[in-house]
Amino acid sequence: MSKSMEKPCIMVVEDEFIVAQDLIASLTHMGYAVCAHADSGEKAIQQAEENQPDLVIMDIVLKGEMDGIQAAGQIHERFQIPVIFLTAFGNQALLDRAKSIEPFGYLIKPFNEGELHSALEIGLYKAAMEKKLRLSEKRFKAMAELLPTGILEIDHDFRITYMNSSAFKMLGVSQVQFEEGIDVRDFLQIEEHEFPLVDEHAEDRDEYGAPLLRLGKGPAEFRLQRKDGSSIEVIADSAVMPAGENKAVLRLGEESTRILVNLTDITQIKKLEFQLHQSQKMEAIGRLAGGIAHDFNNILYVILGYSELMMGNMAKNHPHYEGLREIFTASERARLLVKQLMAFGRKQVLNINWVDINQVIRDFEKLLGRVIGEDIELKIHLMQNPAVVKADITQIEQILMNLVVNARDAMPDGGTLTIQTGTVELDGSFASARSEVTPGDYIMIVVADTGTGMDKETIEKIFEPFFTTKSKEVGTGLGLSTVYGIIKQHDGHIDVYSEPGRGSVFKIYLPSFTEDVCIVESESAVPSKSMEGSATVLVVEDDPSVLRMTCKILVEKGYRVFEALNADDAVRRAQNYKGKLHLLLTDVIMPGMKGPEVYQRIREFHPETRALFMSGYTADVITRHGVLKEGLQFIQKPFSAKALLAKIEHLITESL
Ligand SMILES: Nc1ncnc2c1ncn2[C@@H]1O[C@H](COP(=O)(O)OP(=O)(O)OP(=O)(O)O)[C@@H](O)[C@H]1O
Ligand SMILES: [Mg+2]
Repeated sequence: MSKSMEKPCIMVVEDEFIVAQDLIASLTHMGYAVCAHADSGEKAIQQAEENQPDLVIMDIVLKGEMDGIQAAGQIHERFQIPVIFLTAFGNQALLDRAKSIEPFGYLIKPFNEGELHSALEIGLYKAAMEKKLRLSEKRFKAMAELLPTGILEIDHDFRITYMNSSAFKMLGVSQVQFEEGIDVRDFLQIEEHEFPLVDEHAEDRDEYGAPLLRLGKGPAEFRLQRKDGSSIEVIADSAVMPAGENKAVLRLGEESTRILVNLTDITQIKKLEFQLHQSQKMEAIGRLAGGIAHDFNNILYVILGYSELMMGNMAKNHPHYEGLREIFTASERARLLVKQLMAFGRKQVLNINWVDINQVIRDFEKLLGRVIGEDIELKIHLMQNPAVVKADITQIEQILMNLVVNARDAMPDGGTLTIQTGTVELDGSFASARSEVTPGDYIMIVVADTGTGMDKETIEKIFEPFFTTKSKEVGTGLGLSTVYGIIKQHDGHIDVYSEPGRGSVFKIYLPSFTEDVCIVESESAVPSKSMEGSATVLVVEDDPSVLRMTCKILVEKGYRVFEALNADDAVRRAQNYKGKLHLLLTDVIMPGMKGPEVYQRIREFHPETRALFMSGYTADVITRHGVLKEGLQFIQKPFSAKALLAKIEHLITESL
């Protein structure tokens, strides 16, 4: 700024002493400062570097190696200092050569002060403009380099003429490749008529047959093929820099036309979007499946119970006995199906304990060997420390079994099945790449096979209930949906890696617990002595047919039974009963009071009473955590009369 307030500083390059003196005198007289004087091309360059003049007046013909045109060329290129040539009139060949370095003006000898003055003023003005332009260019370039989005400039031939550093990264291109020339269509890998910047519908085509471009086209979303073969998804906003002013429609064949493109990488967003969509879909199917399963549960319970009761009271040769048995077995099958659907719908009540996954796998090893047969090699690598999670052990066994059976089915000609445990910390970046994952420490269980593998389309569907590629006799398509539901209910996560012909890897992550914990061995349910018929049971259940049915089972076995259709009724009955109340058998979720609350109230009158909770349906209150308080006894509906009686007897005997 201060420099522009000062007198402009001029350098004079002239080898004839008299002419130089004359020129310097005129310049000084006109109010310019002459800051340097040189009499050869070499000296001129040196002086220009040292004194940084605002403008150079240069004689074209100089003594020595270098003439004025060469010297001016270097001064302009190296220091961006503008040059005005001094030349004798009429040497057209010299003038033509001088043009190549884009001089700021010519002074034809001889000249008067007026001519000198106007040539200098025009030269200085042009120099100031050029400086401004350079600054502005620098500013916009710096801005483009700062942008996280990729900026490209494309010429009329689809060649990329400019890229900012984000664009280099995005397209995976090196500087050398850029300098060799890049056609933007290489990244698009689509036909020219699909080129998103080209207006396909334009009827008007120019003489080269190139399609017309239109300004103001909205952003386009497409996939880019990077140089290394991988691909990214981008949104491209584009603008056409017109060849002439005020042109809305531009011709692609026109050389000065440039297209500016701004690329935003949305690969990660797309991925998350897809995952969110997948998990929302699973959530919806889960809710549907779980809901249906719940209603079926109560119906099945009644069918199972009555057929079991009737069979028990019937001679085996009774004409209806066979029919009843068929009803019973069919409902048993339905019960298993419903159970799987409930697991997928996360409607199972979990019996949560500290579980060492390593131990579960070790206990399972023998059974696994039998399941997979001899053609498949089993490799087990367990982490050294116990792999402790909070889980329902039978559910974990279920997960392993389902995965192993799938692996076996994928290796009909043999192969290797690997089961592995380890710890991993799922950090923020892992979590942010997946919806629904909370960062933290996890126990990882890997089940890998060397079988057929799966293509992308299959992988997308495997967790959906009833998706199967197996024949009807072999698969129902509920295996992995059960796995999915159970893992989600344990706040875990499952990942699949697979390619056709390359086997599959299933990775399960369950929240890990590093505190010292004691692992509770699962109890054996063998009662020491039979209490059948000598105990009192209060049954609370809001579904009348389920209540009737349950009481009937107990009464038949000789138990003394009180029934209650709701919580208040149950509390009243317990309060009025003065004898020993051995057991409370209650539904978990009822209108009004929940099962555990009923139990608490009853304990006020009967501290001796034990409780057995039953549930098929669990409202969200329970399923959100999926847990009844630890240590409480629970039986999952529907249950068979046998299972119920065994459980009740075990509890009553234990309490004595
Ligand atoms: N390890 C694996 N290798 C290859 N494909 C697999 C593997 N595991 C699952 N799949 C594919 O996923 C589908 C769904 O599996 P899922 O366990 O849910 O059902 P299923 O095995 O077909 O039947 P079900 O488990 O109910 O008997 C399978 O049919 C199969 O196509
Ligand atoms: Mg399966």
